This record gives sequence, C-alpha cells and structure tokens, in this order.
Amino acid sequence: MGNNQDSSIIDLRNLHKCYWVGTMPFPALHGLNLEIAAGEFAVVAGRSGSGKSTLLNIVGALESADSGSVEVLGQDILGMNSDQRTQFRLRNIGFVFQAYNLVRVFTARENVAYVCQLQGKSRKESMEIANHWLHEVEIGHLGYRRPDQLSGGQQQRVAVARALASNPKLILADEPTANLDSTTGRRLIRLMHELNHRFGTTFLISSHDPDVKQAAGRLIKLADGQIVDSWDEVPEPPQSLSSSCPSSHLPLGERVRNYIKLKRQSRGGKRRGGNQRRS
Ligand SMILES: Nc1ncnc2c1ncn2[C@@H]1O[C@H](COP(=O)(O)OP(=O)(O)O)[C@@H](O)[C@H]1O
Ligand SMILES: [Mg+2]
Repeated sequence: MGNNQDSSIIDLRNLHKCYWVGTMPFPALHGLNLEIAAGEFAVVAGRSGSGKSTLLNIVGALESADSGSVEVLGQDILGMNSDQRTQFRLRNIGFVFQAYNLVRVFTARENVAYVCQLQGKSRKESMEIANHWLHEVEIGHLGYRRPDQLSGGQQQRVAVARALASNPKLILADEPTANLDSTTGRRLIRLMHELNHRFGTTFLISSHDPDVKQAAGRLIKLADGQIVDSWDEVPEPPQSLSSSCPSSHLPLGERVRNYIKLKRQSRGGKRRGGNQRRS
C-alpha cells in the first residue's frame, strides 16, 4: 500500500517535531516517514506520548513541523500560510476528536450544518446536508438536540456526521473511542469502517484501543516518534537533543523569546475557538 505515487493521499518524509516548554525540549517525532494511499482505513497505534496526536495535527495542518516534508493530497502544507491552511482544512479534511469539539449552544443539526455554511453553502442546503449525514450515522431523529442532551456515543456520531458533511477526502480521528464504553466504541468504529467502504473516504485514526486496532485495514505502530515494525523494537534514541530539537542550539534568550511567542500564538489559537495546538 502507498507505493503508488498517484494514489498517495499522505506522504510524510523525515518528519521531525519537538515541543518546547520554556527551555525544556519535548521531542515528539523523529524522522518519521509514512505514506497513506487513497481509500485506506489506517490506524496509528502506540502508547500515550508516542506522538500520535502530533502526527495527526501535522497532517491536518493544525501544527507545523520543525523539518521534513508533508504532502497531503499532493500539496505541501508546511509551505502554506495560516489562511491557506484554514482553507485547505475546510475543503479537504474532516476531524473527529476525542473530546467531540461540538459547539455547545448549537443543536446536532446546526453543528453539522455549520461546516457546510463555512464552505459557502446556503443555510437551507447546509441543513439538508446535515439531515442526510445525521441519518447516515443513525441519529437523524436527534438532530434538534444540543450536545449536552446526547450521550457520548451520540455526540461522537454527530462529530462523524460533521466530518463527512464537508465531503472531505480524508478524515482524521484522534482517539475517537477514548471517552466511550467498549460497546459504543465498537459500534462507532464499525460505522466509520462502513463509511470508508461505501464512500472511499480515507481514514487515519489514532488509537490504543484494541478494538480499533483490530478493525484497522493497516496498523501503523508508533513508538517514541518513529514508526516501528513491532513494539518490541526499541527505536534508537535521538543522537542528541540538538538533532531531534533543532533549536536547542539557540542561545537561552532566543529560546525564551520563542517560547513567549509560542505561548502568545497558542493563547490566540484558543481565543479563536479551538483547542488547536500551534507551533
Ligand atoms: N503542547 C505540547 N507541549 C509540550 N510537549 C508536548 C505538547 N504536545 C505534545 N507534547 C509531547 O510530545 C510527545 C508526543 O505527544 P502526543 O503527540 O500528544 O502523543 P500521543 O498522542 O501519542 O499521546 C509527548 O512527549 C508529549 O508530552
Ligand atoms: Mg494523543
């Protein structure tokens, strides 16, 4: 899978990412290479802290990388500015996050319709599309309810309907079953699998849930920011912090200034209404 350049939807080469908290580096990805072909139902699995969310956030143009190349749908997303990334996300990617990220004051239907309106569709058309997708995920009768009037599993179905409503080529789901009981989690995964089969939408899902791993069309094993053949294989630690965290050579003053800038950006990001981590 993934060797055919034409059908490759995600192409990551030698990806490095390191977070900084003050002067403390937290390496997240070390030279990661990954190709995902169109139509795959791929699951990235690994322990907490192995880099799953970082990987999905970079693919989803929510975060940038320190070095390497990131092509999604043939486009170099690291080279895009913030507006281009926003447009790219809106047109091409559906997100299903573990905390659902639904707008609390909107009904289920309005939550789904909202992305269509952001894409420029009329309110009427957006509501029709929302109805369609809520029916597809079997909660068409609950469209008038707000998120706090729905169970965790139902909220996650709203999130899946919202992700599909924008007609994306790629859906990124970060630990979608993490807050669900195992039966509800299994039903959600079965639903996503079915949608992948019926519509050919590519799924990249992060999880350490055994049921999700079992459903994977392809299982990608992540350990310490690298893809491994088996979790028994311990990846080589980065040769030095400066190789995995390229800015560790900077003088302290500059690192502190970068840190303050990063904090400001992340506060700005939160104010804009998401829990998106930016670098
Ligand atoms: N905003 C952040 N600030 C500092 N370190 C972070 C941040 N986000 C992630 N990390 C670190 O990066 C590594 C990978 O994290 P993450 O991608 O969230 O892993 P996973 O999703 O597999 O649990 C961890 O060591 C984590 O502590
Ligand atoms: Mg995570």
